[in-house]
Amino acid sequence: MSIMEYFTPTHVYFGAGAAEKTAEVLKKEGASKVLVHFGTGSVKRSGLLDRVEKDLADHGIEFVELGGVVPNPRVSLVRKGIELVKENDIDFILAVGGGSVLDSAKAIGYGAFGGGDVWDFYCGKRKVEGTVPVATVLTLSATGSEMSDSSVITNDETEITYKRGCNTDFGRVRCAFLDPELTYTVSAYQTASGSTDIMMHTLERYFHQGYALDMTDKLSFALLKEVMESAPEAIEKPDDYDARANLMWAGSISHNGLMAAGNSNRGDWACHQIEHELSAEFDVAHGAGLAAIWGSWARYVLDTDPSRFAKLGQGVFGTDDPVRTIECFEEFFRSINMPTDLKGLGLDFDEAACRKAALGVTFQDARTIGNFKVLNTEDIFNIYMMAAGLK
Ligand code: NZQ
Ligand code: ZN
Repeated sequence: MSIMEYFTPTHVYFGAGAAEKTAEVLKKEGASKVLVHFGTGSVKRSGLLDRVEKDLADHGIEFVELGGVVPNPRVSLVRKGIELVKENDIDFILAVGGGSVLDSAKAIGYGAFGGGDVWDFYCGKRKVEGTVPVATVLTLSATGSEMSDSSVITNDETEITYKRGCNTDFGRVRCAFLDPELTYTVSAYQTASGSTDIMMHTLERYFHQGYALDMTDKLSFALLKEVMESAPEAIEKPDDYDARANLMWAGSISHNGLMAAGNSNRGDWACHQIEHELSAEFDVAHGAGLAAIWGSWARYVLDTDPSRFAKLGQGVFGTDDPVRTIECFEEFFRSINMPTDLKGLGLDFDEAACRKAALGVTFQDARTIGNFKVLNTEDIFNIYMMAAGLK
């Protein structure tokens, strides 16, 4: 039996008004000069950025701003951030925004601490050995980056656009301020996409080979049911505190390791690899890309262990029919206007596009992905073909 490792060092402040504690806590953490990192405008429009910066100033904390993080965050802006941190003797990075802003902040932290080319950490050439401490005021429930060990960055400087993740415990942020009210302004589409991503972080962990702790399976079912109940409520009524709070906490615990605790490994993760190829090349929303792929992946791998699908179906939908289980998830995705194929995602893939994407996932046939079923380039090609409606 393998040994479980569960490490969640992030100090979480959760609830209405949690963001108001930011400066006070950062002061206690020893911050004297902060890089305030944000996206393309939502935190300016909502007034959150002004409030956070005033709070920092009131606590005698200096700050430098770096905005402009786009969804699927780019390494070029990360490099700017690293320069700013070095030039200004920044000792804390504060990400105010969604997962993209936070992932960019984590990358800046690694690069400013480690020197050299920050992309090395993302393409596996070097291991992260430390970071400038990072905190976040989260504005979107989705990625779980606020408690995960992960950061995902897109390289926009090469001829082919690459999106790569870097997993390290240095990526676990020092403190996360989680105020569900800050997500009231998230659009219906981003709410649905984020909710899908939350579900997928649990589903990716649920599907694996090896020992599965029954209690963790049951926690997974509860989380999935809660998200499927709260997402439509938040879409229907964007300022529904309970629904937003459920989604926010589900996002954090879906990706902090709890949903694989006691299992013999971290899960499958093939759908994430297959999706990242799409959001790298076509800039689609990550959660929507996952919804477009998942059903095809599930049908392709179903025969590996139908009983795992049956247990999931029983726990979430009250059916032990494996095929019906897949259909129920797809029906849910469609009910919140998420795509369940590539066309719905706005991508018109032909056979050549499926082949190119599959080779991209396996780094030109240099690796396999997946754990529930190990997938090679041909398998991934078949999954893209199914998602494209060509098989
Ligand atoms: O740029 P702004 O103006 O802030 O607008 C953002 C963006 O357009 C907007 N938004 C955020 N909070 C808002 C808001 N709009 C209104 N009100 C608010 N309160 O939403 C849009 C999407 O934001 P983004 O941060 O890109 O979304 P998300 O949190 O889903 O992050 C997606 C990125 O995270 C990566 C994905 O691959 C993708 O690059 N992931 C990171 C993970 C991790 N670090 O653990 C795990 C995930 O599997 C995922 O791969
Ligand atoms: Zn994800």
